[in-house]
Amino acid sequence: MTFGPSTGHRSAVSMNGPGQWIPAPGVTMKTSATADLAPSETAALVQAVSRAPSVHNSQPWQLRVRGADVDLVERADVVLPWHDPEGRDRLLSCGAALANLQLAAQALSREITTSFPADADMVATVHTRPGDPPTLANLARYHAIGRRRSYRREFAPEPVRAADLAEILDAADDPAVHAVTPPHGEALAEMLGFATRVFRADTAYQRELDAWTAHTFGPRALGAVDGVPEAALGDAPLPAAGLVRRTTPVPDDVRLAERLAAETLVVLCTGDDTRRAHLAAGVALQRMWLEATVHGLAGSVLTQPLHLTGFREDLADRLGLPGLPQAIFRCGNPVSVAPPSPRLPLGDLLCHDVPGGLE
Ligand SMILES: Cc1cc2nc3c(=O)[nH]c(=O)nc-3n(C[C@H](O)[C@H](O)[C@H](O)COP(=O)(O)O)c2cc1C
Repeated sequence: MTFGPSTGHRSAVSMNGPGQWIPAPGVTMKTSATADLAPSETAALVQAVSRAPSVHNSQPWQLRVRGADVDLVERADVVLPWHDPEGRDRLLSCGAALANLQLAAQALSREITTSFPADADMVATVHTRPGDPPTLANLARYHAIGRRRSYRREFAPEPVRAADLAEILDAADDPAVHAVTPPHGEALAEMLGFATRVFRADTAYQRELDAWTAHTFGPRALGAVDGVPEAALGDAPLPAAGLVRRTTPVPDDVRLAERLAAETLVVLCTGDDTRRAHLAAGVALQRMWLEATVHGLAGSVLTQPLHLTGFREDLADRLGLPGLPQAIFRCGNPVSVAPPSPRLPLGDLLCHDVPGGLE
């Protein structure tokens, strides 16, 4: 069975406001002195995972709590045959969820180790036990989970400060992932412009994108639990547009190069194209995005162009990248607040019941 965007109305924890759910560990949250995760701790972990970014807001993950261990399971039935034919973005999304899960467990003053079982749909197991409080950096990133949103608009003209950018790049924190700021310019503009024109004219692609956006518009939006809302998508031209629709204006290459030069772009690259590499790129992406949020910056991610056949290899070649690009992260100073995106009810994220429920 495959899974498409939800079309029914559900009583949902959908439009969460900025940061309204994130508890303050050690201040208001009761932590367990025993090794097993208490229901309140499980709820904090599920909430953190729920707010992770995901391709088309498809939320392709579930959690299984076993004592003090938490399995993150990939929902391989969540498919996007046109945007993500290989499921690469689905694993990147699971990586983002894993980053949130790890940060939330640390925020609960748990020591964590992460293992990567070989089972088909298993992404990772986070093993936890009572430990020290989180580092200040990780606590700040945890608190940024509820404030992070995709910001697909033009940024304010003030550039990202070099010191902030250095900390954002450091946050990737994985030798297997290279986070690089590419030379802006004609090559990137030319390639993004080309990809945009291809996607804009691709009827099957556009049909799939419609399916993941249409149910979030108008009166039906209140019941939406997944997909990308119109307000979050907007109709700005590249690079701010993010996802290219039939109506997305495509600036010419010169104009696009100017626009790209005004933004801070980070390309996340890996040495190979394995599941572990995709997962690691997703973890690094989310850690960087949260670090940017900590610094009061906003951002969004582009993977759409990277799915054109041969695009990544060409991009790596033309920009001299240190590996295969997995995602492009753009960040800057926001000029407005990005609208929230809906989420699945928290109970749907668990493979099992929790005594007393989650909400
Ligand atoms: C792996 C991955 C790929 C994504 N690709 C794109 C993209 O190409 N364009 C875009 O505008 N947003 C992209 N996004 C952002 C998602 O659409 C966004 O995270 C989702 O709609 C939830 O909204 P939020 O980030 O505001 O919570 C991507 C996110 C992830 C994790």
